[in-house]
Amino acid sequence: MEAELLGPVEELKDARVLEIGAGAAQCSRWLRAQGARPVALDLSHRQLQHALRIGREDIGLVQADAGALPFADASFDLACSAYGALPFVAEPVRVLREVRRVLRPGGRFVFSATHPVRWAFPDEPGPEGLTVSASYFDRTPYVEQDEEGRAVYVEHHRTLGDRVRDVVGAGLRLVDVVEPEWPRWNTQEWGGWSPLRGALLPGTAIFVCVRDPERG
Ligand SMILES: C[S@@+](CC[C@H](N)C(=O)[O-])C[C@H]1O[C@@H](n2cnc3c(N)ncnc32)[C@H](O)[C@@H]1O
Repeated sequence: MEAELLGPVEELKDARVLEIGAGAAQCSRWLRAQGARPVALDLSHRQLQHALRIGREDIGLVQADAGALPFADASFDLACSAYGALPFVAEPVRVLREVRRVLRPGGRFVFSATHPVRWAFPDEPGPEGLTVSASYFDRTPYVEQDEEGRAVYVEHHRTLGDRVRDVVGAGLRLVDVVEPEWPRWNTQEWGGWSPLRGALLPGTAIFVCVRDPERG
C-alpha cells in the first residue's frame, strides 16, 4: 500500500475502493485510515467474522463471489486484492471482467499473487526450497482434501504469461508488474518464505491494471 501503486496516498481520500478476497480486511482498514471509503468483499463468512472481530471502523463488509460482484457498473474508483480470490478460482478472467465492470473508466486495479515461478519449487524455507521439483508449465491445480475426499483447499497456477493474457483478455490495460525484493531487514521465516529464498527467488508478483478510459 505504501508503495503507492493505487496512486498517491493523498488522492485516496474519499475514493470508493473495492477489496476482493479481503480476508480479515487488512488492506481496507489501512485504506480507511487514509480517508478512503473501502468495501471489503470475501466469499468466506468466517473471514469476514475475523474482520468484524478486529474492528469494522466504517468498512463495508460484503460476502460474495468475486466472479459475480453485487455492485453496479462503474461504482468504484479503485480496486485491490492482496493474494485474494484470483489464485483460488478456475476462471480468473471472470473475476477480472467483473472488476473491470465495477471500476469507473480510468479506475485502477492492483492485485498481488504468489509469484508464478514459485510453483516449480517446494514450499520450504531452507535449501530444499531452491531446487525445482515441479514443472512451471503444469497448470494442474493444487488440491487438499479432507478424510471424506472433499476438496478443502484448491489453488490454481497461472504462469506469468497466463496472468498477462487474463488481464488483457478481461479488457484491462496492464500498466506494471512489480516483483518486490526481499527486504534486508527481514530475517524472519514464515512457511516457505525466508531470507534465503527471498534473496534468490521472487515471492510475490503485483499486477497494476487500469480500466482504459478510451475503451469505455
Ligand atoms: C490468501 S487469503 C488473502 C486474504 C487477505 N487479502 C490477506 O492478505 O490476508 C485469500 C482470500 O480469498 C478469498 N476467496 C477465495 N475465493 C474467493 C472468491 N471466489 N470470491 C471472493 N473471495 C474469495 C478467501 O476466502 C480468502 O479470504
